[in-house]
Amino acid sequence: MSRLVMISNRLPVSVSKDESGSLVFSRSVGGVATGIASLSEPQERLWLGWPGIVSEQLNDQERLEIISHLQHEGCGPVFLNAKEVNEFYDGFSNETIWPLFHYFASRSKFSQEHFETYRHVNQLFCDKIISYLEPGDSIWVHDYQLMLLPRMIREKVPDAHIGFFLHIPFPSFELIRHLPWRVEILEGILGADLVGFHEYDYVRHFLSSVYRITGHDHYLSELTVQDRLVRVDAFPMGIDYKKYSSCGELEEVKAAMRNFHNSEECKLIISIDRLDYTKGILHRLEAFDAFLRENREYIGKVSLIMVAVPSRTNVPEYMALREEIERSVSRINGNFGTINWTPIQYLYCSMAFSELAALYNAADLALITPLRDGMNLVAKEFIACQTGRDKQGVLVLSEMAGAASELGEALIVNPFDRSMLVSAIKEGLEMLEPEKQRRNALMQTRLSRYTVGHWAQDFLRRLGEVIEKQEHSVTRRFSKKYRVNAKGHYDSAEKRLLLFDYDGTLMPFFNRPELACPDQELLDLLKKLVLDVRNEVVIISGRDRATLEGWVGHLPLSMVVEHGGFIRDREGNWQSAISADDNWKNIVRPILELYTDRTPGAFIEEKVYSLVWHYRKSERDLARLRTQEIKNALYTMTSNLNIGVFEGNKIVEVKDISANKGHSVSSWVNREDWGFIFCAGDDYTDEDMFLSLPERAVSCKIGSGPSNADYRLDSPAELREFLRMLTGDE
Ligand code: UDP
Ligand code: G6P
Repeated sequence: MSRLVMISNRLPVSVSKDESGSLVFSRSVGGVATGIASLSEPQERLWLGWPGIVSEQLNDQERLEIISHLQHEGCGPVFLNAKEVNEFYDGFSNETIWPLFHYFASRSKFSQEHFETYRHVNQLFCDKIISYLEPGDSIWVHDYQLMLLPRMIREKVPDAHIGFFLHIPFPSFELIRHLPWRVEILEGILGADLVGFHEYDYVRHFLSSVYRITGHDHYLSELTVQDRLVRVDAFPMGIDYKKYSSCGELEEVKAAMRNFHNSEECKLIISIDRLDYTKGILHRLEAFDAFLRENREYIGKVSLIMVAVPSRTNVPEYMALREEIERSVSRINGNFGTINWTPIQYLYCSMAFSELAALYNAADLALITPLRDGMNLVAKEFIACQTGRDKQGVLVLSEMAGAASELGEALIVNPFDRSMLVSAIKEGLEMLEPEKQRRNALMQTRLSRYTVGHWAQDFLRRLGEVIEKQEHSVTRRFSKKYRVNAKGHYDSAEKRLLLFDYDGTLMPFFNRPELACPDQELLDLLKKLVLDVRNEVVIISGRDRATLEGWVGHLPLSMVVEHGGFIRDREGNWQSAISADDNWKNIVRPILELYTDRTPGAFIEEKVYSLVWHYRKSERDLARLRTQEIKNALYTMTSNLNIGVFEGNKIVEVKDISANKGHSVSSWVNREDWGFIFCAGDDYTDEDMFLSLPERAVSCKIGSGPSNADYRLDSPAELREFLRMLTGDE
């Protein structure tokens, strides 16, 4: 089995120094470190990351000690100096990306210097991983601190197997567009073969940003980036369910529980997060304050234990938030507290597992109300801990947490809506036992199925599938060896069928379709081909009949135009191939006209069997946006008509679906016993042709991207070179 190399900024172990200057190794907090650390993969695993201490604080001896300690944990360190930590970690990661991706755009700081350090540190991680890499390894890059890394690795090791997972939300394009480094960041992520998010919403936002910013369109969440297939998907991260569902039995957990005085008389609410403004801690305190004010009967009857785990303490926003939280806690305690009762017990510290588990097991209610959260594992851990409890706890969960999609039976709240939070607290505290158990059991079943182990296996299995699919979907180049082979078959064949698309295949693209009239070189080449009596040359094009007749009608060649709507034989006789009712055009034309008016440079071309919206001359981003809008509008309005909406090369074509190039090809192929068949095309409509060809035919796609053709060439010029080879001119 291949080795798995994980790479994240935060390792499961963090290093610091105590007052005496000795190294301290502690368990890291935060979803990435805790979640992945609990994986028990059968696969050999290595985990690279920053040990959490700046290198200026370390002498050579201490570095060796860290390396050796981490080695025992299956980890390797990437050491960073103070400037790197300040600008890469505190700066770009936590003052630019973190707020922006959590919809706190106004808190996001843009510094070119910080971005350059971010790029430099990603490069350091890249160098480190390459020094460890062995053939066959799978690489799994984690989170927003390392978004440039997949591409950097790809540049050094083009055939590396790379997965990337973002553990925070991927926001809407409207946020991403703010980033001055948006192209580099998206292309950085697209260096991976598989890109994973916690939720399908994040997948949608990512795909739409990629399309609108880099131009890579997707089909069913797959894109082609420099001839490489990339898949994007949602994998909601789970927890180690067994560990949490059975922890109530552990002696150390039972002992820790004895410290909490919750009882029928005084209920216990818990709130556990890293101290972070995305977690909604202040909003939660305000809601608890309002709850006590509005429900005086609960005074002395409910306590809140609030654990705020120190996090990113060098970032000014976090320092300020700590002060605000502590002020708010003191105010509430001062207003409501009595000699015998303190409403809020506030703990600014990280908890050991047994203490955390004790809180989960003792609580009557968990108040987890982030303003935005990629997933939130605390909510899942709390629900798992309710398994088997006689008196179970209720989860009040923010709809803005990724976990809400899987924990729908919790009391779901909008964390900005104070009165909703107040009602949920009351409802939760008063919920009857059978109802609590019913809700928790449904969530537990889900959590026990999709554990963190399943999550990782699922991701890695999918990565393997993408790699396998890439091997099949990369169309081979029509290299000299294959061309010589095809020429041999051509020479020895008595009857040859040569099928060509026109635009983008025989001729390059022009800004206006009418400019693509054949040049002399093409006319000479076609003439040579058609004058050989063994050849049947057929141009199969979406173009209209009059245009092609005018351009190449003087040559004795056959044509199928308008995607199979009209056929011409080599003597020049035309006939209509399908009878179409074109009433649908009256519905579609006004929609296209509307978008044409709103898109400078766009225009509509009308053909007998289709309407084409061209945007080659329009501004790129606007045209992409409009294309999406047109497709959405047309899919909805035309679902009951016999027409299809297709995106081609800078066009959207709406056509009668009985007109199809594939049908035309089949009819030509069946006419004779051809000794050689060659077919070339460049866009989606030509894929129908490739699929209709018999096994022995040679097919060639012009341009990049996945295709059903046997081979590919880069441009019409390269195709012409091959055709000259057939005619003996090269
Ligand atoms: N955690 C911990 N000690 C604590 C508080 C929390 O180990 O004192 C763990 C908790 O069990 C959870 C993780 O930290 O697994 C927090 O992950 P979550 O997804 O909830 O939030 P994040 O910190 O990643 O934003
Ligand atoms: C979130 C991020 C992680 C990060 C964790 C703790 O879960 O997605 O990448 O490790 O918070 O933050 P820290 O800055 O301490 O690593």
